[in-house]
This record gives sequence, C-alpha cells and structure tokens, in this order.
Amino acid sequence: MSDLIIRIGGEGGEGIISAGDMVAEAAARSGLEILTFKSFPAEIRGGYAMYQVRFSKDEILSEGTGFQVFCAFNQEALDKNRSQLVPGTVLVYDYPGGDIAEEVKIEGVTCYALPMSKIAKKDLDMYRAKNMVALGALSFTFDIALESLKELVKEKFGRKGQAVVDVNLKAIDAGAHFMRDNHKKTDPYKMGSVAKTGKDVIIISGNEAVGLGALIAGCNFLSCYPITPATEVANYLAVRLPKMDGTLVQAEDEIASLANVLGASYAGAKAMTSTSGPGLSLMQELLGLASMAEIPCVIVDVQRGGPSTGLPTKHEQSDLFMACHGGHGDASRVVLSAENVSDAIELTVIAFNIAEKYQTPVLLLTDGSLGFRTESIKRPDPRKYSVVNRDRFKAGGNGDAPSKYLRYKLTASGVSAMSLPGDAGGAYISTGLEHSESSAPSFTPEDHARMSDKRFNKLASVVDFVPPPEVQGDGPADLGVISWGSTLGTVREAVNQARAQGLKVKALHPKLVWPLQEKQIKAFASTCKKILVPEVNKQGQFAEILRGKTGVDAISYPIYGGLPFSPKQILEKIKEVLK
Ligand code: COA
Repeated sequence: MSDLIIRIGGEGGEGIISAGDMVAEAAARSGLEILTFKSFPAEIRGGYAMYQVRFSKDEILSEGTGFQVFCAFNQEALDKNRSQLVPGTVLVYDYPGGDIAEEVKIEGVTCYALPMSKIAKKDLDMYRAKNMVALGALSFTFDIALESLKELVKEKFGRKGQAVVDVNLKAIDAGAHFMRDNHKKTDPYKMGSVAKTGKDVIIISGNEAVGLGALIAGCNFLSCYPITPATEVANYLAVRLPKMDGTLVQAEDEIASLANVLGASYAGAKAMTSTSGPGLSLMQELLGLASMAEIPCVIVDVQRGGPSTGLPTKHEQSDLFMACHGGHGDASRVVLSAENVSDAIELTVIAFNIAEKYQTPVLLLTDGSLGFRTESIKRPDPRKYSVVNRDRFKAGGNGDAPSKYLRYKLTASGVSAMSLPGDAGGAYISTGLEHSESSAPSFTPEDHARMSDKRFNKLASVVDFVPPPEVQGDGPADLGVISWGSTLGTVREAVNQARAQGLKVKALHPKLVWPLQEKQIKAFASTCKKILVPEVNKQGQFAEILRGKTGVDAISYPIYGGLPFSPKQILEKIKEVLK
C-alpha cells in the first residue's frame, strides 16, 4: 500500500483523540506522511468522537475519501459508519465483552473481532487502556510503527506515572498478540515504514502552525478568549511567547481581546488575536477602529459551524461574508485563507507583513478541520521568510518639521509613517473618529472622502504583494475549479484524478480572498468553458463574491453538513457539470 486511511470511532472520553494522535505521530516518526481528521461532540464526555489518519509514502493533499479500515469502539460508532463499510474495507470491532452485542458479518468486508474492553478491564484492570489495546491491534495488523508507538506511550503518559505507562505498554502488546493468535490476516492492507531518508520533519496541527507562523513573523503579543476550535493557537503560544519576551493576555471576552491587540500594536507590538466565528462577530466594532485608526493587527478566525453557538466542533467555511464585509461603515481590511498546515505558517507570516506594511487589519481564515488537523511537514527554516516592519516615524525624517507630524499624511502609496507613544515630535490623536492628515478629528466632506480613499487605496497593491494564485493544469479546459481555504487540497486531489481520467479540468488556488486578485482570476476563467466553486457553506459565499467582483459566471457547489468535502464528492460534481 502507498496510501491507507484508518478511522477510529467511539465515545467522547474513551481516549479516541489520544489514540489517533499517537498512531499518527508514531507513523510520522517512522517516515510516513500523515494527515489527520478529527470530529468530536461539543460535550466533554459522551457523544460520538471520530479520529481518522491517512498514511502515505507520498505527499497527502486531503483527508481522502472514506476509509479502508474502521475501528469501532462501540455500537453507535459502528452504526454511524456502517454505510461506508463497503466490500474491500476492514472492520476491527470491540467484541465480545464490550458495547457491541453481536458478532458482525458484512458481505465483502473483513471483520476482525477484538475484545478490547474485556482485555482492558479483565486482563489489565484499567478500562482507560482500551484505546491502547486497539492501537496495538491496528499497528500489528497493518504494520504501522509498533515500536514508535511504544516510545510515544512512554513520552505521553510519563506524566501520569510509571504504573500508567506500564499498563499501556502491556495493552499495546495485548492487542497485537490477540490479533496474532486469533486472526489470520485476510485483508490486503499493510503500510510498512519508510527507509530513513534524512527527512527533517515536524508534526504539527493547523492551529499550532498559525502560532509558529506568528513567532516567525515576530509576533510578540497575543490576546484572546478561549473558543473551540481556535484555543490551541493560544495554547501553543502560551508556552513560547514568554520565552521570546512576548506577552499573552487571556482577556475577559473577544471585544477586550481585540482592544488589547490594538493597544499593544499602537504601542509598537506585533499583535494578534485568535478566535472563531462568534468571537469575530463581537470584534466587528473594533475591526472598524483598526481600519479607521490604521493600526496593524492580525485576526485569526478558525471557522466553525454557525450561526450562533451552532456546531462548535464541526467544520464550515461560512465566515467569509463576515470577514470581508462585517462591521459598519466602509471598513477596509485584507482577508487571507490557508489551505493546509504548511500554508498556515506561510500565510500567518504574510498576514503580519501585510498588516505592518499597510497598517491595516488582516484576517486569516482557517477552519475546524485544518485547525485540528495534524500533518508531518518539512521543518520550516525561519531564516527563509522575509519579515516586514511598519514604516516608523522619525522626527524630521519623513520630510516634516518635528512639530508638524502628520500621522495620516496623504502619500502616493497611501501609507503614512506611524509613531509610537513617546517618540519625540510624534504625538498624535488616535481615535475612531474621522480625522484630517494631522489626526485631529474632522467631519468635513473633504476629509471623510480623502481619508476613506486613503484607507482603501493603500490596499490596491496588496493584490501584487501576495503571491499570485497557483494554477493547476494547463491549456484550455472544459472546466475550471476555483475554491478557497482547506477545500483547496481536496480540489487538488480531485483535479489530479479527473485529469488522470482524461478530463480537461484545471484549478486555481487563491489564498487572498479579499481583495481579489481579479486579473489572475479573470485570466484563468478566460481559459475555461465553465467555472465550478466548491465550498463548505450554505450560501455559496465565495461564488457570490467572485461573481460580484470579477463577473465570472461561477457555478456554486456548496455543502453544509459540518464535514469537509471528500475528493470523490468533487470528482463526481466535476463529471456531472461536464455532462
Ligand atoms: N491511559 C491513560 N490516560 C489516557 C489514556 C490511556 N490509555 N487514553 C486517554 N487518556 C487520557 C488523555 O491523556 C486525556 O487526559 P488529559 O485530559 O489529562 O490530557 C483524557 O484521557 C481524554 O482523552 P482524549 O483522548 O484526549 O479525549 P477523548 O478522545 O476521550 O475525547 C474529547 C474527549 C476531546 C472529545 C472531549 O473531551 C472534548 O474536548 N470535546 C470538545 C469540547 C468542546 O470543545 N466543546 C465546545 C465548547 S463551545
């Protein structure tokens, strides 16, 4: 096998997430590429939790379609996945002695009964270790990193004491031995490891990648309020920022978070907040202040299912309208969206660079699936990123007499030098009020028009500052696919498959979603007979923006079930549109 998807399902609280994380990390350590997908309930205990790992010896572009192997911890998990247990798949399930009452036989499906609850309870006297019994069995049967897994048990559970480590090591062996002694392997799936290639990789989640990108960009201030699925951004930075002379402030709510960020940035910090949809809603008033006062800031929105508290742990891409248009008045901002974990690092650096260069709020959109997803990626080299800092006021150095500092001076680029509190000669008034070049409040028609133009015109060159969107495929095509965010990886895989089947399909992968890189989008569309826009929201938000801004006749393909696209879904839609 060069590509294998294993899904584990059970009850929240049974250690599904730990088990999935550990097998993914063990596989990555043994040289395999990994990409994970987690879905769990909003409750801390109970409800259906699922963890899926895709392993490969080659690059992985998306979560993939379905699974080859499903491991059911209970009846509910089995019921939820039964329709996907198609001929050729494998089921490993907790029987006898667990929640599943009957032996399972499904035509064409290899079913391995594994009494994981019974082994954990009766043989090991620790029900918690059920997940490790399952992992031992899976690792043995599909030849995935058994030794690395044991190392990880020592590392991850060491803090819980040697007795816990010992039981878990025994559990891994017990699962492996049960499979060896009780089942003859009849399925074809075997992963193996990859010969050491000197690959220098890190295993990191999308949320952690945002934190890492922020550090590379020189971020030294984060203020946020915890919210699923964005909290890990802060968790990652909480232990790292202080070591780099940075500060993390957990605020009382999201309004205070962005207020803290604006204050810190006004005083010279490179500042960021991380949140999800409901938090971004609360920040809209202050987003306007950032635009009006031209204060650099980065706002990361790890999107989740909405509206309201909605589906807090589920995937959706439905904050695009709010990111681009939210708030009152004509508030300028830039919106980027990340495709995968590597991209989350890269785009966070770009987000800071844009915020600093253009003195504007920059929103970076990721989503639940990407935020929670873990990937093994090439270790980034911070020296390879260029980092931009804001244009700082120097007394007399900006062509003004020191007493005549014009904070909002009208310049050809639209950007005017920013002083920091205490800079001699650099005092100015920073408020949400409209102002003149000097920063003094002004409500004249001339100043409001001039300053509105300044705030928007300075963003005109952002479309050239961000690398142009990548085109996948060449020549004229019967269909072009344009998408955004983490859907891009799935589109890449589907388009590769479509092209391999001889279909004339290509794709465009924009990362800047506001303002749009209109020139490149129109050029791409002119080479395609039709344009398809898949995205995970009800309204087809990106398709709507594309139509409005570029006139491209986009065929919207929205899904909204709390799950990301699979490559199969997109490939089928491509074929349907081409019919
Ligand atoms: N031996 C010892 N300890 C083990 C173990 C084993 N074999 N397997 C798991 N554990 C421990 C884990 O280390 C973890 O302990 P910790 O809390 O000290 O880190 C704990 O058991 C839970 O296991 P874990 O694998 O992390 O989670 P889970 O798969 O059981 O699922 C969640 C629990 C993650 C689904 C649930 O707790 C959760 O967080 N739900 C989402 C809540 C949310 O965000 N709601 C939205 C609010 S708006």
